[in-house]
Amino acid sequence: MYEQVSHSLLNDILIGLDPKVGCEDLKHFYIRLGANFYAIHSLFHQLYGDRQDFRLQMHKLVAVMAKQYVSRPQELRHRDLAREKDHNWFLSQKLAGYALYCQEFAQSLKGMHEKLDYLQELGINLIHIMPILDGPKGRNDGGYAVRDFRKIDEKYGTLEDLDTLSAELRSRDMLLVLDVVVNHTSDEHEWALKAQQGNKKYQEYYYTYPDRKIPDLFEQTMPEVFPDTAPGNFTWNEKMGRWVMTVFNNFQWDLNYRNPSVFIEMIDIILFWANHGADVIRLDAVAFLWKKIGSPCQNEREAHLILQLMKDCCQVTAPGTLFIAEAIVAPLEIIKYFGEDAVNAKECEIAYNATYMALLWDAVATKKTLLLNRGLRSLPTKLDGATWLNYVRCHDDIGLGFDDNDIRASGYDPQAHRRFLVDYYTGAYQGSTATGVAFGVNPKTGDARISGSLASLAGLETALLRNDAQAIDTSIRTIILLHSMIASFGGIPLIYYGDSIGTLNDNTYLDDENKHHDSRWVHRPSLDWNKAARRHEPGTVENRIFTAIQRILAVRKQIPAFADLNNREIFETSNPHLFTFLRFTSQGMHSRVLVIANFDASPQYMNLRELDSVNLFRHVEVKDLYSGETLSTKHGTLEIPPLGFYWLQL
Ligand code: GLC
Ligand code: GLC
Repeated sequence: MYEQVSHSLLNDILIGLDPKVGCEDLKHFYIRLGANFYAIHSLFHQLYGDRQDFRLQMHKLVAVMAKQYVSRPQELRHRDLAREKDHNWFLSQKLAGYALYCQEFAQSLKGMHEKLDYLQELGINLIHIMPILDGPKGRNDGGYAVRDFRKIDEKYGTLEDLDTLSAELRSRDMLLVLDVVVNHTSDEHEWALKAQQGNKKYQEYYYTYPDRKIPDLFEQTMPEVFPDTAPGNFTWNEKMGRWVMTVFNNFQWDLNYRNPSVFIEMIDIILFWANHGADVIRLDAVAFLWKKIGSPCQNEREAHLILQLMKDCCQVTAPGTLFIAEAIVAPLEIIKYFGEDAVNAKECEIAYNATYMALLWDAVATKKTLLLNRGLRSLPTKLDGATWLNYVRCHDDIGLGFDDNDIRASGYDPQAHRRFLVDYYTGAYQGSTATGVAFGVNPKTGDARISGSLASLAGLETALLRNDAQAIDTSIRTIILLHSMIASFGGIPLIYYGDSIGTLNDNTYLDDENKHHDSRWVHRPSLDWNKAARRHEPGTVENRIFTAIQRILAVRKQIPAFADLNNREIFETSNPHLFTFLRFTSQGMHSRVLVIANFDASPQYMNLRELDSVNLFRHVEVKDLYSGETLSTKHGTLEIPPLGFYWLQL
């Protein structure tokens, strides 16, 4: 692509812009468009350059970007400018996130207001409100089957309610994360309905076929996401008389990004929510954006081009808005969602750290850190200007997506080890107190995943039932340890609602005909506010967990070395129960912090000589920033309590 070509096209486009748009003060828009246009043009050309109407589509794309810039509220435009100046703002250790369902947490968007104090009490300043858009009444995959991308479901409130809430969040310095489900729509979405009525234009928004010829070719290499409840990747639609690609549930139709109209619609929707105050947009299921016969239809190169293009377009109109990639894929693939072949993040600035999450669960089950250390070693350093969303639990299942080679190198057989983990967390393994539920069991491949609330997986349910004080203590320690791990690793800790008060599994989903087949509902309860109130009663489970997490977040914010600047060094020591890493910064107080975690249920000892390079053993004593205690290191060893952790200031 010659730059001249893109320049002359840009000229054409600007001349052709709607005069209503042109009379606005577009200075910043023009500057950003000029800066990004070459990239936008070449990406768009790589994806759609072979089309007759390529130039027309380019015109449409820029018109959408301009239209959304014009409707961008002044306040948000100012925020864009401030963030451009301080472009690493989101790498700060001061951020702490919380994911919730609006209805289960606060009844409605209006109800959210009175719960903000609770979140701030915990130390939260970033809130992911799970999908709130209009969807079918019965099965809608927890809101991930969207019927109208611009309408808020009545049961949560109205667009005005959201605007009011986002203004309130801004005034409290809290960030708002909203979902855009980019990969698919509900089968009741207007586009899908028109497609079903035989409208060709809208059939081309999806992957539809008159017979099994092409679906069968696809199926040869496509894995199944929900093998037990939604086997296969295509669904026959009687009305349309065609097969339609449905990778997730049969009522979720995959959008066809080979069609530029789909891309342009989606960028319009992303910018719409950015303009309604979303600081961060969670792009759902991004690994699936491009389908190709003969491939697994995940992590395709074109999926990355689409995300880069989305980012470039968003940077022109709403540059202060960040993207989260929800790509729960292999470690080497996840990292690419920050941007392939780049130095700075150029796709999504934030990605779910599914690798770390699953490795932490491995360490809890095995009480050893062999795979944790190994798995992290094979995770490449991420790009600059990119950060992780570190989480212990979320609304989805836990997938055991480790690399087989890492499992082997840790001394386990991959298949047997995964089997062990599923058995462990579903309580089938002897001695396990976990009460999780299997998810996505695939008899063809033997794969399975795990559902369950953090507390139940950590054994709290069993311990309470047995009224076993020591087991209760063990599970509380596990819950706290895991939160300390996501708060210190580097990245934004994302706490799942209910986990900070030890919420157990909720089995009521089994009585709901729309939910019983999907065990992820076991960990999507209504928050019990009476239980939450016990956080203020000293000695209760709720109090012990809540105050610990509160402290973890408060202390984290005071430690500049915990900002995420790829400033971490992991140490493998001879004690297989310990996980040890150094966080550092060149500036100021607490500039080097050594994190040591013990995943065993007995005390463990660290031979400090093994940490020669951090010179720790030269100190006679060292301060733990979390507890504020001073620890003696006189004898060259340090004792780490059962399921305990230290944040040592060096
Ligand atoms: C994402 C969501 C998950 C949903 C899927 C399909 O992975 O997190 O809950 O089932 O997308 O939309
Ligand atoms: C798979 C998908 C992920 C989805 C999840 C739902 O892990 O990769 O996108 O959220 O399944 O269970």
